[in-house]
Amino acid sequence: MADTITITDNRTGKTYELPITDGTIRADALRQIKVSDDDFGLMTYDPAFMNTASCRSAITFIDGDAGILRYRGYPIEQLAESSSYIEVAYLLLHGELPNSTQLEKWTTEITNHTYVHEFLRKAMEGFRYDAHAMGKLVSMLGALSTFYPDSKNVRDPANRAIHIVKLIAKMPTLAAWAHRHSVGRPYVYPDNELSYCGNYLNMLFRMSEPKYKPHPVLERALDILFILHADHEQNCSANAARAVGSAETDPYCTLAAASAALYGPLHGGANEAVLRMLRQIGDVKNVPEFITSVKGGKGNRLMGFGHRVYKNYDPRAKVIRKLAHDVFAVTGKNPLLDIAIELETIALNDDYFIKRKLYPNVDFYSGLIYQAMGFPVEMFPVLFAIPRASGWLAQWQEMLGDNEQKIARPRQIYTGIEIRDYVPMDKRG
Ligand code: ACO
Repeated sequence: MADTITITDNRTGKTYELPITDGTIRADALRQIKVSDDDFGLMTYDPAFMNTASCRSAITFIDGDAGILRYRGYPIEQLAESSSYIEVAYLLLHGELPNSTQLEKWTTEITNHTYVHEFLRKAMEGFRYDAHAMGKLVSMLGALSTFYPDSKNVRDPANRAIHIVKLIAKMPTLAAWAHRHSVGRPYVYPDNELSYCGNYLNMLFRMSEPKYKPHPVLERALDILFILHADHEQNCSANAARAVGSAETDPYCTLAAASAALYGPLHGGANEAVLRMLRQIGDVKNVPEFITSVKGGKGNRLMGFGHRVYKNYDPRAKVIRKLAHDVFAVTGKNPLLDIAIELETIALNDDYFIKRKLYPNVDFYSGLIYQAMGFPVEMFPVLFAIPRASGWLAQWQEMLGDNEQKIARPRQIYTGIEIRDYVPMDKRG
């Protein structure tokens, strides 16, 4: 059986044989299909990239039907059980788990770059007290690029490595300061004796205590949440990082663009919507009525359920569900948890959800955990952005090293007026 497809163009009666590689045909192979010599050639039309592979990638594998997520081949469940976010960031960027010497060096490098220039602190002070944390993070990432003009040398792998470390190291500092600014508390400088997540909690929550000691269960829970959020192949923000980075933009501005994509409520904001929904339901006894209203199609969706790719239980949601119990054992139970569990129990046994393959996604329980840990709702997308930085950087770096990639430049189907003459102002209606 040949790995080819035969296409007959019924406009001309001509037949073409195109190779099939990895379950795809190359879109540019269609360009030979023409009705005349001056015809541009056949294009594909794929709004929102619903059926287009835009790259080859060896970073993250998802099988949405089977509910599988792997980073560099390692199942997400094993990484969440045994690894740390710092180790996973190394894995995503370098392709292999580090040995103990490599991990020590990597951890030291990241720890040594957690501070940001004092001018950046002053820039943060320029925001209004109620500026959204994500808006501040996006701006601060762009501002960071002005401190590192050499980061423009994106074709130099050694130079890239320096700025990858800086970005992973400084994300928690910027994110924590964005929060301290909102609540009017003094900025807390990094404590380099703490772990990546322990230091982040320190910069967020430390008050007058001389040495902040993160609760080990909460520190580990945050580390696991960071592992789960580190990458998710060609999602909206990874695609933004690749598209912007393809213009050889520096990595700081590239990550500002990716963070801006994540800011959108259709991407990084669903866990906030879950919290709002649970509050609106208010009590376990109201769950059946809410489910009925969802099935009635009156506009309510069961937030935190369903996924474009996963048509099975999101593997991240399974890990988070278990984690919620560990966190609540420390913080006290989030009263909304019982409502969430009841919703899940009813939905997973209801024909409407079964038929449509709607299962809990990563956002169903993560908001409950973040809230119990004391994070305000506006910090939720920021908590997503910190670990996703390693995924964005891995995608960006892979794109730069891929000889098939060029500046991202889609085509269009022009639907406007073909041509007309300029109309002077006194002749316009
Ligand atoms: N509640 C109720 N019904 C749903 C839900 C839901 N959460 N999700 C999908 N459906 C129904 C749709 O109404 C549709 O039904 P129909 O065939 O009778 O018209 C069917 O399931 C298919 O839905 P689509 O909208 O076509 O599925 P799509 O893949 O486009 O949407 C999405 C995926 C956006 C995630 C959707 O499931 C949703 O809105 N979920 C709630 C929001 C949410 O939790 N988002 C977070 C996703 S995870 C992340 O981004 C990190």
